[in-house]
Amino acid sequence: MQKILVTGGCGYIGSHTLVDLIEHGFEVISVDNHLRSRAKQLDGVEKITGKKIKNYAVDLCNWDAVENIFKEEKNIDGIIHFAALKSVPESVAEPLLYYHNNIASLVNILKATAQFGVKEFVFSSSCSVYGNADELPVTEATPLKYAESPYGFSKQIGERMIKDFAAVHADINFILLRYFNPVGAHESAIIGEVPYDRPNNLVPIITQSAIGKMQQLTVFGGDYDTRDGSCVRDYIHVSDVAHAHTCAMKYLLNDAPKKNVDVFNLGSGNGVTVLEAINAFEKVSGTKLNYKVGERRDGDVIAVYANIDKVKSILQWQPQRNIEQMMLSAWNWEKQMATK
Ligand code: WQD
Repeated sequence: MQKILVTGGCGYIGSHTLVDLIEHGFEVISVDNHLRSRAKQLDGVEKITGKKIKNYAVDLCNWDAVENIFKEEKNIDGIIHFAALKSVPESVAEPLLYYHNNIASLVNILKATAQFGVKEFVFSSSCSVYGNADELPVTEATPLKYAESPYGFSKQIGERMIKDFAAVHADINFILLRYFNPVGAHESAIIGEVPYDRPNNLVPIITQSAIGKMQQLTVFGGDYDTRDGSCVRDYIHVSDVAHAHTCAMKYLLNDAPKKNVDVFNLGSGNGVTVLEAINAFEKVSGTKLNYKVGERRDGDVIAVYANIDKVKSILQWQPQRNIEQMMLSAWNWEKQMATK
């Protein structure tokens, strides 16, 4: 059985990816220091899959701790590196926290990858590397513009670090997955997004507003040059994002010739405005949201959505859930959390 080391395995996308990897026959190990995640997220993974998951609760910025993991875990066939801080507004408020955490951890995991002979590596990147793109939908060849937040810039730096590292490690294959907006929860509602403190992202704010945890939802900007004045994003179901990682690892582990570093957009390919997302939620939940249209938010790009032809053709993956299914799964998860 092929063994995959997943950093950030207790996080939102990481935990959903553990489920998908296990369901597709992989052995998995998690590395997660719970800076922004909960150890009990693995209880949910175990409940869904019936598998007990080993987690190393260490800080990836600590080289000795990282080295010890690889000394203990022999024969790692691949690494999926999720572990990073990912809030756009938090990164604007605390840039050094983001630069140190997201970059120092990547330095160490790359160093260990080479030192311990791991040949396959998937990196969690982001559509925020595109900035305010001149062309939409963005393709993987779309030039990267100024990243609108320290979070987005930390991902641009990460991609460049990997490209420079790969140039002197031709024996290691890298895939960079540029996520758009992962939302929703596992169909069982046993795992989902657990916001750290007050959520910043739209969908958990929608569900918390609907269930009464938050007073009022504010649409950040209604005067953008879009079809209804609110920002456009490419929302993608977290289980679809998870399965793309399984497809990427299978692709890396097969014997076909492949590039040293390859980049893939990971989105639904559909641009949805904030107001359309709200309408979709109201439709599937039967709940009327109390929202107002307010000021724009610093760091926001106006519109971004993906051309996903490349990931569909090369990784044999395509999204299975639409915006209404995303919203319903997020709502089911919020209601399930309220019962705890
Ligand atoms: C979405 C839209 C807001 C809250 C995310 C992740 C980031 C990266 C890219 C993966 C924006 C609007 C939000 C609210 C609102 N993903 N909004 N009212 O900023 O696109 O970034 O996707 O790497 O990690 O954070 O996501 O959900 O914060 O915002 O109007 O109360 O919803 O202005 O247009 P964002 P988001």
